[in-house]
Amino acid sequence: MTVDYQTLNNQLSALLADETDALANSANFVGLLYGGISEINWLGIYVLRDKELVLGPFQGLPACVRIPLGQGVCGVAADKNATVRVDDVHAFDGHIVCDPESRSEVVVPLSVHGNLIGVLDIDSPRTARFTDADQAGVELLCRTFEQKLAKDLKDVSDFI
Ligand code: SME
Repeated sequence: MTVDYQTLNNQLSALLADETDALANSANFVGLLYGGISEINWLGIYVLRDKELVLGPFQGLPACVRIPLGQGVCGVAADKNATVRVDDVHAFDGHIVCDPESRSEVVVPLSVHGNLIGVLDIDSPRTARFTDADQAGVELLCRTFEQKLAKDLKDVSDFI
């Protein structure tokens, strides 16, 4: 089932508009996307803290709490500051298993004022769930979220 990312993005803008608390907006960002993107089993934010990714707001089963930069799909995406899309997690050297049901994933770095603040991680139980269109759609949603954070955070180190 294809996802209408433009509508989801409009909903996201409306959802975040009247609130300035970064934790509340992060939780709602995750909740909206988890409900709006089909065929996924985990979606959440890992926050960059002292060269390590730490588990933040998420939906899905409990997950590993700390991921060093450069490790796992999340750590590689953060290290390269680039989206990483994996069609088959079993073929990704160093993939960190949180939910054994996960087969494919996409991880998008999150930045505010040019500083990496964390990543958005989305996992699916279906191999090759994420297409180019999904990647572009998820990146659009992340840009909207980042722009709101950029307005609301006095200092990027204030991010959750
Ligand atoms: N799959 C991730 C670990 C986080 S969980 O999937 C929630 C990774 O290898 O970075």
